[in-house]
Amino acid sequence: MRAVFLFLLVSALSVANLAFGASPRTNYLLYCSGCHLPSGVGNPPNVPTLHDELGRMMAVEEMRAYLVQVPGSSQTPLTDADLAAVVNWILQEFNAETLPEGFRPITTGEVSAARQTILADPLKYRIRYWKDYEE
Ligand code: HEC
Repeated sequence: MRAVFLFLLVSALSVANLAFGASPRTNYLLYCSGCHLPSGVGNPPNVPTLHDELGRMMAVEEMRAYLVQVPGSSQTPLTDADLAAVVNWILQEFNAETLPEGFRPITTGEVSAARQTILADPLKYRIRYWKDYEE
């Protein structure tokens, strides 16, 4: 039953997507929530949470690109503009409390540039410019 419901939900969202252009929330549900869950809490340590720490990361310039260079982001079928909107939605929806003062939303241009560079080792980059996942 649950599988049928999910199938119908995803089908309905896909049709809405084609007909109207999807909202960032819908794109998050379609392309990210399979791993990060609809609530964004993920399943640590295998799939990280998207709450709170991403907002703090935004105080470090190099970490803006990181959000779209992790494989789940960079390899999504979403366009650069739609991916920028999803990442900004995640920041506003799950990280509003921790975003730095004067935070500038991620632009489509930044996403296009960041997506050209594949991170061989996302964790190494994360530790270099930010820090390891918290225990
Ligand atoms: C197939 C599962 C999967 C999907 C789908 C997925 N992710 Fe992820 N995501 C991960 C995993 C696993 C990590 C941990 C880093 C790594 O190993 O890639 C991660 C890490 C991240 C991080 C970094 C979190 C941190 O604290 O360092 C962000 C941001 C992120 N994902 C965003 C997204 C967005 C946006 C989408 C949808 C467009 C998405 N992910 C889709 C599995 C996924």
